[in-house]
Amino acid sequence: MSNTETEREAESDAADSLITTDVETGSNDRTATSDRTAVATRDLNVFYGDEQAIDDVSMEIPEKRVTALIGPSGCGKSTFLRCINRMNDMIDVCRVEGDVEFGGKNVYDDDVDPVALRRKIGMVFQKPNPFPKSIRDNVAYGLKIQGYDGDIDERVEDALKGAALWDEVKGQLDSSGLDLSGGQQQRLCIARAIAADPEVVLMDEPTSALDPVAASKIEDLIDDLAEQYTVIIVTHNMQQAARISDRTAVFLTGGRLVEYDDTTKIFEDPEEQRVEDYITGKFG
Ligand SMILES: Nc1ncnc2c1ncn2[C@@H]1O[C@H](COP(=O)(O)OP(=O)(O)OP(=O)(O)O)[C@@H](O)[C@H]1O
Ligand SMILES: [Mg+2]
Repeated sequence: MSNTETEREAESDAADSLITTDVETGSNDRTATSDRTAVATRDLNVFYGDEQAIDDVSMEIPEKRVTALIGPSGCGKSTFLRCINRMNDMIDVCRVEGDVEFGGKNVYDDDVDPVALRRKIGMVFQKPNPFPKSIRDNVAYGLKIQGYDGDIDERVEDALKGAALWDEVKGQLDSSGLDLSGGQQQRLCIARAIAADPEVVLMDEPTSALDPVAASKIEDLIDDLAEQYTVIIVTHNMQQAARISDRTAVFLTGGRLVEYDDTTKIFEDPEEQRVEDYITGKFG
């Protein structure tokens, strides 16, 4: 963990913000903060009933970087991702043991409000899921729920620009989000996630339902997002993980984290034979 005075202060600010409902603007200085940890899991174990889905995973995820989670179907990638913002709380049979540290606090502590947590740690899913509302209302949704009393139109514009969608939709903010193409809908969902001013954006196979052109736009966007946010992305696409991520975590069957390192190391010279076999398509 970090140990300077300033870092401790920043951590305690982030922890405070989990238990209040304030909207905050974070520091966006990528170089100054690049070696800090955004999220750390410690001895994380996850069970669905008697079945173990994550097996003792300890992992430090760097701030303002793209971290890819890869591994064969059923190895626990989505489960791991959902632990980070407590989306697994919604699954009755799911039990989580161990810590997920964010802002110097365990997100599973009793005083953490999961709704406030999910504003700080937003999520984008495989299938674009805009609400049956206008483009503007999709993006403004979270802000309105928070009772944000600033200039909503300005925040909507900023979020749509941040999601590289503004130029395509600025003349039609009142039309339905559902009338956009799949790739535009996914960028709308990213705009909705970043409108709440999160620190971390979780993405679970965000391009797998998209055509290659739309997928490539999202990849470019992820690269831009990492200037401001910590991005943690699950993908089945090895080329995508290699192209867009700084760090790669390889999970294998049974929810074990087998190797976690710089992306170039994982793809060019992995330590584990099983990892090499997986990334070269010998199984999975
Ligand atoms: N809601 C649930 N209830 C019970 N078991 C579940 C649930 N969700 C996942 N599991 C089980 O947990 C294990 C890990 O599933 P998870 O969805 O995290 O894998 P994944 O790596 O994301 O797979 P995929 O690549 O297919 O999306 C699997 O054995 C799965 O059957
Ligand atoms: Mg999954």
